[in-house]
Order: sequence, then C-alpha cells, then structure tokens
Amino acid sequence: MAKKKIGLIGAGNIGGELANLLVAKQLGDVVLFDIAAKENFAKGKALDLEQSTALSGSDIRVTGTSNWEDLAGADVLIITAGIPRKPGQSRDDLVMMNLPIIRDVADNAKKHCPNAFAIIVSNPLDAMVYEYWRRTGAPAAKVVGMAGVLDSARFSLFLARELNASIKDIRAMVLGGHGDDMVPVLSNCTITGVPIQKLLPQDKLTSIVDRTRKGGGEIVNLMGTSAFYAPAASAIAMAEAFLLDQKRLLPCAAYLNGEYGFKDLYMGVPVVIGQGGVEKILTIELTTDEKGMLKKSADSVQKVVDIVKAQAG
Ligand code: APR
Repeated sequence: MAKKKIGLIGAGNIGGELANLLVAKQLGDVVLFDIAAKENFAKGKALDLEQSTALSGSDIRVTGTSNWEDLAGADVLIITAGIPRKPGQSRDDLVMMNLPIIRDVADNAKKHCPNAFAIIVSNPLDAMVYEYWRRTGAPAAKVVGMAGVLDSARFSLFLARELNASIKDIRAMVLGGHGDDMVPVLSNCTITGVPIQKLLPQDKLTSIVDRTRKGGGEIVNLMGTSAFYAPAASAIAMAEAFLLDQKRLLPCAAYLNGEYGFKDLYMGVPVVIGQGGVEKILTIELTTDEKGMLKKSADSVQKVVDIVKAQAG
C-alpha cells in the first residue's frame, strides 16, 4: 500500500507538534509548509524531526517547504496557518488577521490538493472552517474543524482530576462553537457509563464547565501564546480516524444543513469520521437548557461568519 501524504500548513507550534505525533504514529509522510519567509524554519524543523527517526525507528519522511507544489496529492491537510492569541485576546479578535491567511490557504489547497481531507485548526475556528469550505467549494464531508475534540479533552481532564478517576474512563463531549459559550454536555457525560451528575455536586460541575469554556484562555494567560500539545493531539485523532477508517464518534465543527436547527453554518456537533471524511452527523438528545446554550453559541458563531461574509474576496 502506498504511504499516505499529510500536509501541515503552518510550521509553528501546533504544526511542529503535529509533525512529531505523525512521525511517532507513522501515519504517513509529512510535508511541513510555511510562508516563504519561514521556509528555512520549516526545513530545519523537518530535518530535526527526521533525524529523530534514527532513534525512534520511524520510517516516516518529513520535508519542509514553502512551495505548494510539494503538497500535490496530499491525502490530509491540517491547517494551523495563522496568528495565535495573546493574553487578553479572544479567538474572535483574530478574525481580520487570519481571514486573508485562510483565503490564501484555501485557494492554494483547491489548486494543488483538491482531494485532501482538510482539518482546520486556525482561529476563530468555526468561521475559518466555514470560509475554507466556501472558498474551496470542496464537499462538506472533506472539510472539518478541530475544536470539540480539544474542548472535550479539557473537560475530561478537569472531571478526572476532580473525581480522582482515570482519564481513560471519562466520556465527555463539548458541542457548539469554539468560544466562551461552547456547550459541555453534562447530560451525556459519564465515567464508564455512570452519569457524572450522580457523582459530582452541581456547584463542582458548574465550575468545571466554566473552566472548560475558558480552557484555551487559561493557557494563553500562562504561556503568552496559545496551546499546542493538546490541539495537535486532537487534530491527529481526527486525521487518524480518517486515514484508518476508524468510524470514530468525535465532536467536530461540521457543516450543518438543518441539523440541530441550524443551516449554512459550521459548528461543533458529534460526527462519525471514517475514510469518507465526515460520514455522518449524529443528532443526540439534549436537555432544554443545553439546546438554549447551543443556540446562544450558534448565534455567536454566526456573528463572526457574518463579519467574514461582509469582507469582499
Ligand atoms: N500559509 C502558511 N502558513 C502561514 C501563513 C500562510 N498564508 N500565514 C502564516 N502562516 C504560519 C506562520 O508563519 C506560523 O509559522 O502559521 C504558523 C502559525 O504558527 P504559530 O504562530 O506558532 O501558531 P500556532 O500556535 O501553531 O497556532 C496556529 O491555530 O489554534 C490556532 O489560534 C491558533 O490561529 C492559531 C493557529
């Protein structure tokens, strides 16, 4: 079987960690792409990583480039191109900076690797994935945003620590937009099937939900830039589900055409990822409260999408 080709658009903090995980998991050869001014940086990172394969024994090739032609035939693109947050900034504050970048990436991806399964990570996530999909004209099944897997990972960790439980046993899901009004779904959250609401008092759950919603900002405030280990691991889980046809049920930003009552919007919902990309959107039962929170979150996403739509280009 031919080796898969994975293009990482953006060779920064997340891009580097993505490459590291791909080398470790041997999911396919990696092309680490960045703008011309950072081509040497991308090449250097690629070379450093490739040299590590002498120790790990990984048969993965890693190359750095600023030439889109090197992405031709990519099976997967993971897009982190853009500016990360600084302390005090919201993800939505990045929209005008990252919009021209995602448009540039979309135009090139359409030209050079139109069949790739594209996983968008750049923020503000839901608006950027919408714009990438609109601009490329790719089928919605082949364009997905990474947010829910990360937000759920944060939610799961906080629950596990509060319960003094193994992280392996937590089943938790965060839906909605990748912003401060995202929706951690307590009604479906369990520790190996035992409802979490039976194990923790409401005030603890409320503070965990709140910490989850601000989970990205907490790290930005600590580091001065945004997170990269957990974001990279989250995008890799999605890429792996596609490449290995795992049919995993993951919360991802997917194109909604009436599901959950929303139309023409990308937002976090439970999806099945397999070799067809986003193969299915699952409609799960939510409480009235959760439905209200999802609507509020969708309204926030729509506002940023409206800003994007108002920008010619
Ligand atoms: N094409 C390709 N790469 C680009 C482009 C472009 N048009 N414009 C910028 N980049 C590159 C930058 O040169 C930089 O190397 O994207 C990289 C981003 O890396 P970092 O600044 O380290 O940011 P990172 O932490 O990886 O986050 C990237 O993901 O989670 C989001 O909010 C975060 O939007 C941000 C993105």
